Amino acid sequence: MAHILLRNRDIADIWQFETYVAHGGYEGLRKAIKEHTPAEVIQIVLDSNLRGRGGAGFPTGRKWSFIPKDAPIKYVVVNADESEPGTFKDRELLEKNPHQVIEGAMIAAYAIQATAVYVYCRGEFWDLAHALEERIEEARQANLVGEDILGSGWSCNMYVHLGAGAYICGEESALLNSLQGLLGQPRVRPPFPAQMGGGLYYQPTVVNNVETLANVPWIILNGAAAYKAIGTPESPGPKIFCVSGHVERPGNYELPLGLTFRQLIFEHAGGVPNGKRLKGILPSGASGPVLPATDEVLDAPLTYESVAALGSTLGSASFILMDEDTDMVWAAAKMIHFFKHESCGKCTPCREGTYWLERIYERLLDGRGTPRDLELLESVPRQIQGLTLCALGDFACNPVLSTLRHFRDEYERYVGLAETVPQAAVAGA
Ligand SMILES: Cc1cc2nc3c(=O)[nH]c(=O)nc-3n(C[C@H](O)[C@H](O)[C@H](O)COP(=O)(O)O)c2cc1C
Repeated sequence: MAHILLRNRDIADIWQFETYVAHGGYEGLRKAIKEHTPAEVIQIVLDSNLRGRGGAGFPTGRKWSFIPKDAPIKYVVVNADESEPGTFKDRELLEKNPHQVIEGAMIAAYAIQATAVYVYCRGEFWDLAHALEERIEEARQANLVGEDILGSGWSCNMYVHLGAGAYICGEESALLNSLQGLLGQPRVRPPFPAQMGGGLYYQPTVVNNVETLANVPWIILNGAAAYKAIGTPESPGPKIFCVSGHVERPGNYELPLGLTFRQLIFEHAGGVPNGKRLKGILPSGASGPVLPATDEVLDAPLTYESVAALGSTLGSASFILMDEDTDMVWAAAKMIHFFKHESCGKCTPCREGTYWLERIYERLLDGRGTPRDLELLESVPRQIQGLTLCALGDFACNPVLSTLRHFRDEYERYVGLAETVPQAAVAGA
C-alpha cells in the first residue's frame, strides 16, 4: 500500500513549505474551503469513519459534530504530547512532514469554524516545537493561517505550546488545564471538551491526536469512500505502528489496519533477534494489557475491535515486544514504576494504589514476597479501576493484571510456590 501518512517521507526537505506545496500540499485545505461548507467537511470525515489515533479510537467526525455551531469562540487543540512508552509516530510526523499536520489541523479548524488552534507539544519536543513555529509562520505568509484565510472571511491563528514533560498532560482534560496555565491534572467530566464549559478556557474545543489530523488532508482530497477502502469497515484507514523492544527492525510502519500481529511483527519488523521465541506483546505501550504470543493472538487482525476481543487494546499501536528471556514480573514492575511516577496525585485510588503496587513489586523482586502479595496484586487494582477521573489509574492496573493472568507461573516462582529460580531481568528488555 502506498503511504498516506508517511508519504513523501523520503523527500529530504518535504518539511519546507515550497517542497510540500510542490507535492500537492495544502490542496486539501484549499479544496475544503473553496468547495465545501464546514458542515460538509464534518460529514466527509464522519463518512470516512476515521477513528482517533491518540488511543481511544473515538470517531473523529462525531467529535467534530458535537461542537455547538453558534458558540462564538471555539478551539482545536493538537495533542502532540506523545508520552506513552513505545510511541514515537507523532514525532516523526511533526519532524519530517510538519505541514501535513498543520494542514490537517486547519481543516479541522475550518470544519468547526475555530478561532484558534493550539499545538501542545511534550516538553522534550522543544526543538521540534521551535521548528513548528517557523513552519506555521510560512503557512501564515501564504494566507493559509491567520486573517481571512484564502479570502473566505474566516480567520484562525495557530500557536505552539510547550509542556513540561508530564505523561498526564497527554490526557486531554489535563492537557487543557496545562495549556491554560493551571496544574496539569484531569478535570471532572461532564462537561466534555466539546461542550461549553469543558474545553480550553471553558470554550467548546476539539482535541485531536497528531496522527488523526495527518489523515485529514488525504480524506478531503480523495473522499471518504477511498479512505474506507483501506483497512476494515470498523477500523478503516492506515495506521502507523510503532515497533520496539526485542525486534530485528524497530521503527514506524505505516500499514492498513486489519493486517495480523504476525504480519506486522515477523514480515515487516523482521521478528525477534537471535532466533529467540517471542513471549509477550504490548500492543499499546505500557498502558494496555500485555498479550501472550500465542497463535491465536498472532493470527488475529490488528483492528480496534479484534484487539479488544483478545483482552487488550490497540491504543496508539505502540508495539513493545518481549522475547523468551524477559522476566514478566520485572517488566510489570518497570511499568508500575512509570505509572506511580506519572500519577498526578489528584485521585486517591491512583495516587495511593500505584504507590502500594510498587511496594509489592519491590518486595517480590527483593525476594521478600509471599503468596499473600499475589492476592494483593489482584485486590489493589480493584480499588483503582473505574474509580479515577482519568484512565491513568486503569492503565496502571493493566500490566499487573495481564501479566498475572498470562504469566502467573513467573510470579509463583518469586514467592516460592514454584521451584525454578526467577530469571534475571534481561538487559535491553
Ligand atoms: C494518561 C493518558 C495519557 C494520554 N496521552 C496521550 C498522548 O500522549 N497523545 C494523545 O494523542 N492522546 C493521549 N491520550 C488520549 C487523549 O486523552 C485523547 O483521547 C486524544 O488526544 C484524543 O485524540 P483523538 O481522538 O484524535 O485520538 C492520553 C490519555 C490518557 C488517559
